Amino acid sequence: MRYLKLKGIICACLVIALAGIFTSIARGQGSQVAMTPPMGWNSWNHFGCHITEDIVRQQAHAMATNGMKDAGYVYVNIDDCWQGQRDAQGNIQPNANFPDMKGLADYVHSLGLKFGVYSSPGPLTCARHTGSYQHEQQDAKTYAAWGVDYLKYDWCSASRVYQPSQMQAVYRKMYDALRSTERPIVFSLCQYGLQQVWRWGPSVGGNLWRTTGDISPDYTRMAFIGFEQNGLQKYAGPGHWNDPDMLEIGNGRLTNVNEERTQMSLWCMLAAPLLAGNDLTHMNQQTLDVLTNREVIAVDQDPKGVQGHRITQEGPLEVWAKAMSDGSQVVGLFNRSVGAAVMEVNFSDIGIYGSAKVRDLWAHKDLGSFDRSFSTEVPAHGVALIRVSLPKP
Ligand code: GLA
Repeated sequence: MRYLKLKGIICACLVIALAGIFTSIARGQGSQVAMTPPMGWNSWNHFGCHITEDIVRQQAHAMATNGMKDAGYVYVNIDDCWQGQRDAQGNIQPNANFPDMKGLADYVHSLGLKFGVYSSPGPLTCARHTGSYQHEQQDAKTYAAWGVDYLKYDWCSASRVYQPSQMQAVYRKMYDALRSTERPIVFSLCQYGLQQVWRWGPSVGGNLWRTTGDISPDYTRMAFIGFEQNGLQKYAGPGHWNDPDMLEIGNGRLTNVNEERTQMSLWCMLAAPLLAGNDLTHMNQQTLDVLTNREVIAVDQDPKGVQGHRITQEGPLEVWAKAMSDGSQVVGLFNRSVGAAVMEVNFSDIGIYGSAKVRDLWAHKDLGSFDRSFSTEVPAHGVALIRVSLPKP
C-alpha cells in the first residue's frame, strides 16, 4: 500500500516536472542565450550620440560582408541616444534619427544578424534620453515587438529614484519583463561593477555584467581595465560573463598593432564579450585582421567558458593562462612596458610537465616542441599568444 502511494507521488512529480519543461520550452525560455561570450558591434565607442538608423544599417551591412559575421560577430547593438518621447499611451518612441525601428531590426535580421538596444532603469539614460522607469513591462513588450535580441540596461539616473539596496530587484524586474515576452533576449547589466555585481548578476537574470567604469581608446585605460579582471574568473561561465566593457580596437589612440592585439588577446583570454566599437565601414586591414583572427576568437568562444587568470607577474610583464576544452592551455605573455622584453612561461605553472607543443595563434604557426618552458621576445605594449598542448600519445 505504502509502496503504491510512493509510486503515485513519484509519477505525479514527474508529470509536473515534464509539464514545466514543455511549457518553458513553448514559451521560448528553453533556448539559452549567451552560452559563449556575445560577439557583435555597439555604436557607443565610436559614434556616441551621433548615431542614426542609416549608420546602423551601414555598420550591419559591413559586418555581414567584411568577414566579421563569418568569424562569429552577430549582434548589432544601438547604445544610448535612439530614444524619443513616450506617446499618449506611454509607449516609447524612437527619436527622429530612428524613423523605423521595426524596419531596422528586420533589415539586421535579413542579414543573418541580431539586433540590440539600450535603456536605463532610471527616468533618464546616461545621455539624458528617456529611460524605462515605471515602464519596464511596456518597454520589454515594445522591444519584443520590434524584434530586439539584446538589451543593455544602464543604471545611470536610477540612483536618483532607487536606494542602492534596491538595485538587484530593479534589474530583476526588467529581466522578468523580458522573460514574459517569451522572446530570448540577452540581458546585459551595466552598473560599472557596483556592489560586486559578479556575485549576484546571474540571480537577477544577467547574461553579462560590466565589471568596471567606462573604457577609453588608449592603451593605459584599456590595460588598466583588462588586467584588473584577475580574480573574477570564478564568476564567469556559459550564459553568464564578466564584461570589462567593449573593444576600442581601431579607435582613437588604440591603433598600434601591438596594442590592438593586446586588447583582443586579453579579452579573449578573459572570455569577455567581443563587441567591436569602431566604424566598421572605415577600417584598415590591420584592424580587421585583429578583429577576425579565427584562432584568437576560438580562445574567447571555447565552449568550456573558462575565464583566464594571471599566473605570474614581474612588474609590467604578465603571464596569463586559460584552460581550453581540449585540454590545452592558452598562454598570453603580455608586455606592458615601453620597450621590448624577453618573456618566459614555465610549463609547470600551467600544469604541464615535460615537453609540449607550442602554436603561435596570431601567426597561425606551429613553433615546435619545447621542454619545460617557452620564451620569446615580446614587443612594447604587445603580446605573444600561444597554445600549449601535450603531444598526442
Ligand atoms: C555609460 C555606459 C557606456 C555608455 C554610455 C551611454 O557611460 O557605461 O557604456 O552606454 O553610458 O550614455
